[in-house]
Amino acid sequence: MHWGFSQFACMVAFSALLLSAPSSIAQQQSAAPSERGSPAAQEAAREVTQPLNNAPVWREVRSGVPAITAVTGQETNVLIQPTMKLPFEPAVSAGEAWRLARPPLSTIGGTIIALSVLALFAFFRWRGSIGVHEPPTGRFIERFSNTDRMVHWTVAISFSVLAITGLIMGLGKYLVIPLIGHTAFSWLAIVSKTTHNFVGPIFTVFLPVLIAIFIRDNLPKMYDLQWLKTFGGMLSKNGGEVPSGRFNAGEKGLFWILPCFFGVLLVVSGLILDFPNFGQLRMVMQQANLVHMVAALLAIAVACFHIYLGTVGQRGAYQAMRTGYVDEAWAKEHHRIWYEDVKTGRSRQRFAHDVPPQTRAHVLEALEEH
Ligand code: HEM
Repeated sequence: MHWGFSQFACMVAFSALLLSAPSSIAQQQSAAPSERGSPAAQEAAREVTQPLNNAPVWREVRSGVPAITAVTGQETNVLIQPTMKLPFEPAVSAGEAWRLARPPLSTIGGTIIALSVLALFAFFRWRGSIGVHEPPTGRFIERFSNTDRMVHWTVAISFSVLAITGLIMGLGKYLVIPLIGHTAFSWLAIVSKTTHNFVGPIFTVFLPVLIAIFIRDNLPKMYDLQWLKTFGGMLSKNGGEVPSGRFNAGEKGLFWILPCFFGVLLVVSGLILDFPNFGQLRMVMQQANLVHMVAALLAIAVACFHIYLGTVGQRGAYQAMRTGYVDEAWAKEHHRIWYEDVKTGRSRQRFAHDVPPQTRAHVLEALEEH
C-alpha cells in the first residue's frame, strides 16, 4: 500500500511538471536579439551562442513557408501538423496537443487502477474469501473443457503481459524512472515495447475465440435481475447467494465490458498502431493511441475485479479454471440454476467420474476454510 501512495505522489508531481512544460517552451521560441536576417542567418548565429539548439530552423518550419521533400508517402510535406485546440489545453499543433493530452489521461487512468486495487484490499479485509457453506460431496462437475481453459489462459496471460508492458511504457516515466534511473529504464522500455508489439497479435487472435466460446452462457436472462438487486448477496456477510446460471449477472456484465467492449477496442486501436504501413494519417495514429491508452487503463481496472474474484476473492474459482472441475457443493451454492441443469442433463457440462486423484485433492483443498 505504501508503494502505491508514494508512486502515485510521484506520478502527480511529474504530471504537473509535464503540464507546465509548454509555457517554458513558449518562452524559448522567440528569436534572440542578436539573431537578425534570414532564418539561415539566424540559425548560424544561434549555433554560435547555443550549439545544437536549432530553434530558428523549427520557427521557419512552423511559419508555413512552402518547403520541398524528396521523401514520398503520406503527409511527407507536412512536417508539423495544423494547429488544434483540445479542451483545457492551449491551441497548439495536433502533435503537441496529442503529447499534452497523454499525461492527464494516464494520471486519471492510473489513479482509477490504484483506487480499484485499494477498494479490493478493503473489500477483502471486510468480506474475506467467499466460501461454500455445505461440505464438499466429492462428486465433481466438469465446469470448463480443455478448450475453454486453454483459450481463457492464453487471453488472460497475454492480457497480463500487455497490461504490465503497457503500464511500463505509459506510466514508467513517472513511476519507474525514479526507482531505477534512466539507463535501466531505457532497456526496460525497449523490451516492453517489443514484447507488447508481439504479444498484441496473440491476444488479437484468441480474443474472438474466447468471446465465441463464452457468449452463449453470458446472454442475459430474466433471473439475472434478481442477482443484480442484491449484487448476488456479495455485499452482505450473511446474505445467501441468489440462484444463477453457469455465470452470474456480475460475471456476465464483466464479460460484455472486458473482452467484448474494451478487448475489441484495444484490438482495433492496437492494430492501427502496430501496422502503420496501411496509409493511416498521423491524426488517426494519435487518436488510436489515446483510445488505446484510455481503454487499456480502464480495462486493467475492470480486470482487477475479475482477477480478484478468480483468485483470493472466492474459494474454488481458480481451481475451476485451472483444473476444469468444481465440487457439486460449489456449483449448488454459487450457480444453483446451472447445477440443476447439469443434474437434469440440460446443460452441456456433466458430472465427471474419472477425475485424477491429485486434481481432486487440489479442488477440495481450495474449498477448505483457513
Ligand atoms: C490474469 C488473470 C485472470 C485470472 C486469474 C482469471 C480467472 C478466472 C476464473 C477463475 C474464471 C472462472 C470463474 C467461474 O468459474 O465462474 C474465469 C472466467 C472467465 N474469464 Fe478470467 N481470469 C483472468 C483474466 C481474464 C481476462 C484478461 C479475460 C478477458 C479479457 C478473462 C475472461 C474470462 C471469461 C470470459 C470467463 C468466463 C466467465 C464469463 O464468461 O463470465 N479472464 N477467469
